[in-house]
Amino acid sequence: MNLLIQYPSSVVIQRLLTVLEFVPDGIYIVNPEGITLYVNAAYEKLSGFKRKDLVGRYMGDLINEGYIDQSASLMVLEQKKTLSIMQKLGRKKDVIVTGRPVFNQDGNIEMVVSSVRDITYLNQLKNDLERVETISKLNNHRFTFDFVGEQKSQFLFNSPQMKEIVQKVEQVAPFPTSILITGPSGAGKEEIVNLIHHMSDRHKKPLIKVNCAAIPEALLESELFGYEGGAFTGSKKEGKMGLLELADGGTFLLDEIGEMPLPLQAKLLRVIQDKKVQRIGSNKSKKIDIRIISATNRDLEKKMHAGEFREDLFYRIAVVQIEVPPLRERLGDIDVLIDHFFYNFKEQYRIEKELLPKTKQVLQDYHWPGNIRELKNIMESLIVSIPEVIIKPEHLPRHIFHSAYKLFPKNLKNQIENYEKMIVEEAINRNNSIRKAAKELGVHHTTLLKKLQRWGEGG
Ligand SMILES: Nc1ncnc2c1ncn2[C@@H]1O[C@H](COP(=O)(O)OP(=O)(O)OP(=O)(O)O)[C@@H](O)[C@H]1O
Ligand SMILES: [Mg+2]
Repeated sequence: MNLLIQYPSSVVIQRLLTVLEFVPDGIYIVNPEGITLYVNAAYEKLSGFKRKDLVGRYMGDLINEGYIDQSASLMVLEQKKTLSIMQKLGRKKDVIVTGRPVFNQDGNIEMVVSSVRDITYLNQLKNDLERVETISKLNNHRFTFDFVGEQKSQFLFNSPQMKEIVQKVEQVAPFPTSILITGPSGAGKEEIVNLIHHMSDRHKKPLIKVNCAAIPEALLESELFGYEGGAFTGSKKEGKMGLLELADGGTFLLDEIGEMPLPLQAKLLRVIQDKKVQRIGSNKSKKIDIRIISATNRDLEKKMHAGEFREDLFYRIAVVQIEVPPLRERLGDIDVLIDHFFYNFKEQYRIEKELLPKTKQVLQDYHWPGNIRELKNIMESLIVSIPEVIIKPEHLPRHIFHSAYKLFPKNLKNQIENYEKMIVEEAINRNNSIRKAAKELGVHHTTLLKKLQRWGEGG
């Protein structure tokens, strides 16, 4: 179906339309009322829509029904000139649409012909390029490691403390030696475990992680060791392989090992000493080859002295010890992590945002009690929850903004100015216009403009 056929000289048009069917770009033609007259085969293919669903329809309705997010044709009709827009087709394809008005002898628009080119691939290339550029920019003074697994993650660092840790990791990774990683919550202990596993020759074998604090004691034992068929009521008939056995050849993380109950500690010690596991209810044991890494944010030595952690187990699991310092003690990492997460969340949510240098400085000076986890969460929340494109210090969560009192001394002038800013911003939001806001506030609108300009520059 196409409505162009109703136009004069329909034979010529029919032939032209046949030609258009072979054009690789999508072609979309609307009449002066914004009603679709024609779409070609390439457009159907690009969009996944059928022409019978589009022809005869008003563009505005197609937007409302979610076919397209904006209409170049309607803009051309309104502005009476050729223009190009980026558009999302069917919510998935990125296309660039160029709409051209076709005028009749009287100078009125007769139709709008739009060509639609798929730039999804180009956009991907652009994003990849931007990513590579940012990464190489970030890379100047630090190392990164990419793990391509089920989830892509990057290990970033720049501080001398972390450089030393990574050197140690590189040194010990090839050996099956057990490693204890200590450090506060969110500091990156688990990421270091990933790093060790991926740097070892075990990287093609499993890396199994068990959080000793998250699993109830009775279950933890059967998860770790497995059981024979009928070993206890409720157990599976055919028995179950334990995680330690499953990790054979690979790496095993005992996360939050400080929470492991004493009886299990004894059993674990035996596994490490004998390099064998025995399923619950079985009298046979099986040889296993695993590297054990343990992690904790508790002080194990203190637990040892309190009789809550076995001394013999401690020395077995802590042949090599790695202590991850809190983020506030490795200032060199904060900067690269801010850039990294900010860029990544921008890309992930396809949102354009900018951090003012002053905002970044507040973030750098903050003491990050929740370490990298906290930093990552804050960066995500800044990207998704601040409507403004430019993120100013006052957009930061209150506790972070207030931590920067040295940067923003609370003298009278500052406090009055902050209050003034708030009043002006509210008036502008309410009136949706600087001129109207000025009128409401009883000041000349150039006064208001000057203020906004000054605040914009000052951050
Ligand atoms: N060097 C790093 N580069 C990039 N991201 C990191 C780095 N270190 C940690 N992260 C990220 O920070 C978050 C917290 O890290 P991780 O889970 O390793 O901390 P943790 O020390 O194991 O914390 P917890 O004690 O609470 O288990 C994760 O999202 C992780 O991906
Ligand atoms: Mg952890």
